[in-house]
Amino acid sequence: MIKKDEVIHKEDLDIDQQWPWWPLLPLYPYGRRRTLVKELIPNQIWSFEQLQGLYYVAVPVRLTVVKVSGGLMLFNPLPPTNELRRALLTLEKKHGPVLTIVLPTASGLEHKIAMPSLARCFPKADLWICPGQWSFPIGLPLQWLGIPSNRTSVLINDGFPHEESCEWVSLGPINIGLGRFQEVSCFHKDSRSLLVTDALVGIKVDPPQLFDIDPTPLLFHARESGDQPLEDSPELRRKGWARLILFSLFLRPEKLKIPDLSKVVNNAFKPGLRNSRAHFGIYPFEWQKGWQESANALMGVKKPLLLFAPVLERLVFPRAQEALIKWLDEISSLKGINCLISAHYSDLVEFNQRKALDLKRKIMSRSWPNQSGNWSFLEGVDKALLKNGVVPKEPLEGFRD
Ligand SMILES: [Fe+2]
Repeated sequence: MIKKDEVIHKEDLDIDQQWPWWPLLPLYPYGRRRTLVKELIPNQIWSFEQLQGLYYVAVPVRLTVVKVSGGLMLFNPLPPTNELRRALLTLEKKHGPVLTIVLPTASGLEHKIAMPSLARCFPKADLWICPGQWSFPIGLPLQWLGIPSNRTSVLINDGFPHEESCEWVSLGPINIGLGRFQEVSCFHKDSRSLLVTDALVGIKVDPPQLFDIDPTPLLFHARESGDQPLEDSPELRRKGWARLILFSLFLRPEKLKIPDLSKVVNNAFKPGLRNSRAHFGIYPFEWQKGWQESANALMGVKKPLLLFAPVLERLVFPRAQEALIKWLDEISSLKGINCLISAHYSDLVEFNQRKALDLKRKIMSRSWPNQSGNWSFLEGVDKALLKNGVVPKEPLEGFRD
């Protein structure tokens, strides 16, 4: 049996953590994906977390395993390393077979990428996908994306799986030019949990437990320059985590400057740092005064702070206020809802009908979209996409500047 907070990493599991398909989406930690398994709600919900990111800007990405009638449902695929499959096998022995695998997002590439290989691991499982799957730069049919069509159904169009255990609520579709943004949330009635993918996240000041397995990304970003060694302490881990939050939420936060190349090179290749773990001392970032305050506003101290993911809040939601409000209205009517589990950051986040309505009131009462401070870079991205005709202009109507 998998105990709560059990860390299943062991040195001799290295081979079991290999993910051979990583070059398809080359994100850190590349070919080695360690998995942290937690039982979030006894006998009902389990979280399987792996790290994923760019240049040590790595955050947890989560597969949620849900107890349904007769077996298990997997929500948001993850790379099925041997380690992950073994943990699932342990759950199957107690709770029944994996009956269903759900890819609930149309656009989240980091969730789509593992669907084919996870599907192959469970050849009897029914596959359900969000409508409007798209690939870039060219649209490919499902089979070409490695998703077997003979056992695949489309959420909404073909109904929903496990309706005796779950209620399903769609956010979108929202036209984002290249394709669509849509994610289908699942309310698991027995555990009173709402499962989402990217729309809402909860973030806490303490780094996720997954970093206990390897804190390198935290320590790497806790430094001020490339000539500083990677030192470890609880404070430095929290400092590194706060910076990862700013990076991962805003891509280029306000208080981050890119130093001159000469400065970066001068600080590089110092003794003790000539190794790949330290990226040979190359640290092309400089944090300005005020970065900590900026990060503090995004993290809860005692419990996770609930947020819309800023990339979506700035680039997607301003184009579809109605769709967002409709989704919040629907989730605020889910009877008994008391927690949220998203595919990133904190696992269990306090959530209820009142919090859903608070979010709705918040987005209806403030100016939107955000443009300054941490939002400046995303604002620039949005303008560039608009200028090049990549994203549509007109759905911005209805928003107050
Ligand atoms: Fe995601």
